[in-house]
Amino acid sequence: MQPFSPKPPAGISPYVIAHRGISGKAPENTPAAFSPACLTPGIDMIELDVRLSKEEEVIVLHDRSLQRTTTGNGPARNYLVSELKQFDAGSWFNPSFSQERIPLLRDVLSFVDRRRWIDIELKSDFLHPEPPGFLERKVLDVVRELGMLDQVMFSSFNHSLMRTLRKIEASAVTGVIYNMYRDFGRPPSKLAGRVGASVIVCSKYEFTERMLQDAHYHGLALYVYTLNDQVSVRKMMELGVDGILSDNADEIVPIVSGIKQ
Ligand code: G3P
Ligand code: MG
Repeated sequence: MQPFSPKPPAGISPYVIAHRGISGKAPENTPAAFSPACLTPGIDMIELDVRLSKEEEVIVLHDRSLQRTTTGNGPARNYLVSELKQFDAGSWFNPSFSQERIPLLRDVLSFVDRRRWIDIELKSDFLHPEPPGFLERKVLDVVRELGMLDQVMFSSFNHSLMRTLRKIEASAVTGVIYNMYRDFGRPPSKLAGRVGASVIVCSKYEFTERMLQDAHYHGLALYVYTLNDQVSVRKMMELGVDGILSDNADEIVPIVSGIKQ
């Protein structure tokens, strides 16, 4: 893989980004969802969510609580990795995935290797706030250790994490995720500019053409989530967004490449 660049080359279609892996067909944020995303041609990037375990290992899990996607209960932050590994992270989706476990970021990055770029979304826990820079350093350490800094983008709803991350590692590519309630009326250039991010990520419900114009005018990339149907993918492509996050990235590829020039 080439080093990750926030914007696809001019005239090339938007990046296809597998949201939590191919999470429409396998349990999100597990190897079962990441593996097909590495094997399906045309998928550019994998998005995943990270947080910390009790001993401060970086784990790949969306919710702060284990309840929705595993057989565990309560905050993941209260469990050691050895305990988290006991929980089944696949049966909630389908019993055939009962062998799936919550993975470590380190293991997912090693597995994906240089086959796909990775969007590492840092989830901060408002009920268990970390000291400033703590989560950012933990995540950066893993990425640096594996020599994958040029293959990843970091993103977060918590924009100050992105600011800190770039203070620690100036070469890191970062994205800020838009929050309608908090960020309403603030142009992407302002949100990204104040923390040195080069990507703005917004939901399809928040997206406006004005946001896209502002982002592009200021040289920023704009990615939209979560597009799972043909009509919305076509529409966003025509408008010129730079990345499309989908739960069924495998199904988005033919649409995107069909229009690709
Ligand atoms: O990065 C976009 C998207 O992943 C943010 O929302 O809740 O799916 O992590 P969520
Ligand atoms: Mg996410």
